[in-house]
Amino acid sequence: MSRHDASPDIPLTFEPTDLEHAADPYALLASVRAGGPVRQLASGYWAVTGHAAALAALRHPRCGTSPIALRYLDGLPPGAARDEMSHRINFLDPPDHPRVRSIVAKAFTPRRIGELRPWIERRAEALLDELRDARDASGEVDVLARFAHQLPSLVISELLGVTVADRGRLTGWSDAVAPLLGVRVPPLVKQHAVAAAEEFHAYLSALLEERRRAPGDDLLSALLVAEEDGQRLARVELLSLAATLYSAGHRTTRDLFANGLSVLLRMPGALGRIAHGEWPVAAVVEEMLRHETPTLFVARVPLEPVTIGEAKVGAFEPLLVFLAAANRDPDAYEVPDEFRPGRNGPGALSFAFGAHFCLGAALARSEAEVMLSAFARRHADATLARSLRWHQRGPFRGLDELVVRLA
Ligand code: HEM
Repeated sequence: MSRHDASPDIPLTFEPTDLEHAADPYALLASVRAGGPVRQLASGYWAVTGHAAALAALRHPRCGTSPIALRYLDGLPPGAARDEMSHRINFLDPPDHPRVRSIVAKAFTPRRIGELRPWIERRAEALLDELRDARDASGEVDVLARFAHQLPSLVISELLGVTVADRGRLTGWSDAVAPLLGVRVPPLVKQHAVAAAEEFHAYLSALLEERRRAPGDDLLSALLVAEEDGQRLARVELLSLAATLYSAGHRTTRDLFANGLSVLLRMPGALGRIAHGEWPVAAVVEEMLRHETPTLFVARVPLEPVTIGEAKVGAFEPLLVFLAAANRDPDAYEVPDEFRPGRNGPGALSFAFGAHFCLGAALARSEAEVMLSAFARRHADATLARSLRWHQRGPFRGLDELVVRLA
């Protein structure tokens, strides 16, 4: 009997919302995976936890996302939240998805991202100066609020042409809307998200009008004029995309850096190895992505019966692809719970895979590399000053704060 055959007939009591209360989501996910890489949960959802099975689901041409958009059309009142969620690029299937994605790719180019790098490096240094000055009498400071959050938020604001002073409000709105991406949304949280989306869209709507009147060299202006085969994005698509880019552009990048740094701070000498080039920074960022992914899961819905791994999944039975579990699958990685930069094994799935592979992956990697090398160079001897408090909003997992002691 292989380890995957353990109690194959017992329905799993695990539910994705259990992760919100788990002190260690990895132990919980490992126990789900021990019962097989693809298992149907008592609620009917399928949990995909093996790396090979996750890849198979993510690259399967008949595993789509458009039925998820319908869930929002049915479950949200008419208005901004419903418009945003039902037009989100990640809930589109062909023919809409390739159409929207290729228009975005025309505006959100590798060149635009490459050109930003020196600007990102300068901002990182300036923020680290401010971080040093913000230490209290015992040398403690919250790296999450003052650095990990600030840089990605400045970068996405610069990209989209959002005024720096407005960043706080936009972060608040996007944080309030994020739980809608979860599997079950409590009524009060939903109500809050719906209200936040109205304000968020009113803001973005005004910004779009401004860019239409007076285009700049920002991404929004480029998105307004980008077209494919003579077609441009519809207004509702543009608004949804602007909100998605703003949210996706800073929360996950902040969490990638902070989640990863929290691991490094618990490994004596790790920051020094980065500072001295013993651990190449790009390899450390790849391992941060694998080990502490900010996005725990993504969903896929089979548009017809499909086989994933050895499981036969019926049409429209939703699959939850646990990227966090796939990234630590012992069939794919040696001692998966250890943090080993430069390890062998397949690429982490933290940016997903296939048609919806993260559009901002190159930008996120670039920002994380800049933040990590600048921080390690200055603060190789930083230590963790407080115990860690984790939160989960929808599929996103991150820290509430990361208080460190700087020399
Ligand atoms: C560490 C940082 C990031 C992580 C872990 C991350 C993760 C992901 C994941 C898992 C998906 C796939 C969703 C799915 O398949 O259902 C995705 C899609 C996407 N991401 Fe990211 N992301 C990050 C940063 C960014 C940034 C910086 C941007 C933009 C500025 C961005 C924009 C997008 C967009 C637009 C999509 C939708 C692509 C599509 O559906 O075709 N992401 N991201």
